[in-house]
Amino acid sequence: MKNIYLPYLMVVKNIIQETFDVKTLQLVFKNEEEGKNFSFLPGQFCEFSVFGAGEATFCLASSPTRKEFIECSIKKIGKITNAIHELKEGDIVGLRGPYGNTFPMDLIKGKNLLFIGGGIGIAPLRSLIDYCIDNRADYKQIEIIYGARTPQDLVYTRIFDEWKKQQNVNLHITVDRIVGDWKGHVDFVPTYLKELKPSAENTVAITCGPPIMIKFVVEALVALGFPDDRIISSLEMKMKCGVGKCGRCNIGKTYVCKDGPIFSYGEIKNLMREF
Ligand code: FES
Repeated sequence: MKNIYLPYLMVVKNIIQETFDVKTLQLVFKNEEEGKNFSFLPGQFCEFSVFGAGEATFCLASSPTRKEFIECSIKKIGKITNAIHELKEGDIVGLRGPYGNTFPMDLIKGKNLLFIGGGIGIAPLRSLIDYCIDNRADYKQIEIIYGARTPQDLVYTRIFDEWKKQQNVNLHITVDRIVGDWKGHVDFVPTYLKELKPSAENTVAITCGPPIMIKFVVEALVALGFPDDRIISSLEMKMKCGVGKCGRCNIGKTYVCKDGPIFSYGEIKNLMREF
């Protein structure tokens, strides 16, 4: 079994500038054999290291059904993420993982899916959205509500068209405030969710975004009649070691890295008071 502290060496194959402060790195395994043996499911995360700068956790944003690259989308917010943003194509980085639990793949099978993402929180949802698109017969209607602070903060605009052209997939985009010549919807994600009023019938809602957005999204979903076990959230706060050792990611007694990062509302109801 591979040592959990030993990173895979990855080559930065392509770098995509998603927004002014978010880049997506497309990574391939330096050792092809390791790449063939690497497997993960949507919802899991990795420790990503830039040699000399340090390590940080990021979700796997690509779907395991698309094997050409592993993608991680990284927002520039501090020392390590700044170093990641300085990387060039061809550079070598470290990747440990995958860690954490996965979205509840059995629960979502055969259901309508409602994805609700905010900002860079769309990244783990994207892994699952693409997974569902690639296994289309296993899922019913897919609704995606995605919002960001401004139109310039929307990530993955490059793949919106691919999602929109899928059968029974609807994409609803909103921004908190207009900048430039935005003609689309303007409102906070939870308010837009209330306005759209998606049906809870045979539907699983899956959300990820800033904690305050998750709090109000969950409230709106409960009001729409979603039961606690069909509201699923990916939490990605304050993680460092990724394996339950550093004590950085706990909310009360729950460790996001070890017990999650995917939780049902039923599981984290009490913790959400601490958001
Ligand atoms: S990230 Fe270290 S204990 Fe969870």
